[in-house]
Amino acid sequence: MLSVKKTSNTSFIKLVASIAAIFSMSAIVADKKPAMELAQLSEGFNPEQKYMASCFACHSTGAAGAPKVGDGMTVEWEPRLEKGLDAVVANAINGINTMPAKGLCFDCTDDDLRAIVEYMIDSSN
Ligand code: HEC
Repeated sequence: MLSVKKTSNTSFIKLVASIAAIFSMSAIVADKKPAMELAQLSEGFNPEQKYMASCFACHSTGAAGAPKVGDGMTVEWEPRLEKGLDAVVANAINGINTMPAKGLCFDCTDDDLRAIVEYMIDSSN
């Protein structure tokens, strides 16, 4: 009696474990899609519009030492770009000193921010 009970308990645990495994596998598959979408540009994304909305306030005036954006502002960006575009983009995403994380654009994906940074650098030539 006791040994029968033990066996059925073990197979019940095995059943639960395999159901849990199936669920976690489907969760991984289901998770994959939004993660891939996050790595892309947001729908209807326009780097200039986002720049004007989130970054312009500091980056047009150079408030708090923000590198200025605009004609002839290459000098502001050259020393920063010496560490590579990826590092500059990472600083925009994570923030650096008084530069707030994501430049306060909390609905921007990492790729959106990269596109804005590229826009800022391009329009400073
Ligand atoms: C509250 C003001 C403020 C806002 C808003 C802001 N920035 Fe900045 N940003 C700064 C300041 C200040 C720095 C200089 C930080 C430093 O190097 O000490 C900076 C630096 C940067 C840099 C250079 C990073 C580096 O590696 O040198 C990038 C790129 C940048 N900002 C992108 C953005 C983007 C993109 C946005 C909008 C989505 C934005 N910023 C919004 C203040 C701001």
